[in-house]
Amino acid sequence: MYVCICKGVTDHRIREAVEDGARSWREVQNETGCGTQCGKCACMGKTITRDAVVSEMSSSSADLAYAV
Ligand code: FES
Repeated sequence: MYVCICKGVTDHRIREAVEDGARSWREVQNETGCGTQCGKCACMGKTITRDAVVSEMSSSSADLAYAV
């Protein structure tokens, strides 16, 4: 779904930015441009970013738990 109409950013693109290493809303903004024009998508963008980071971190922790 489109989150940011101004920059044409989808929720998938935000998750992809987190998978590629973004760990904060600011980093996602820098990577995608989401929320950098009118700002109306910021709340939704932050929520998706937070969920994606939590998901990414928990999968990273799982990797560490099995790697030892
Ligand atoms: Fe995202 Fe306008 S809708 S900056």
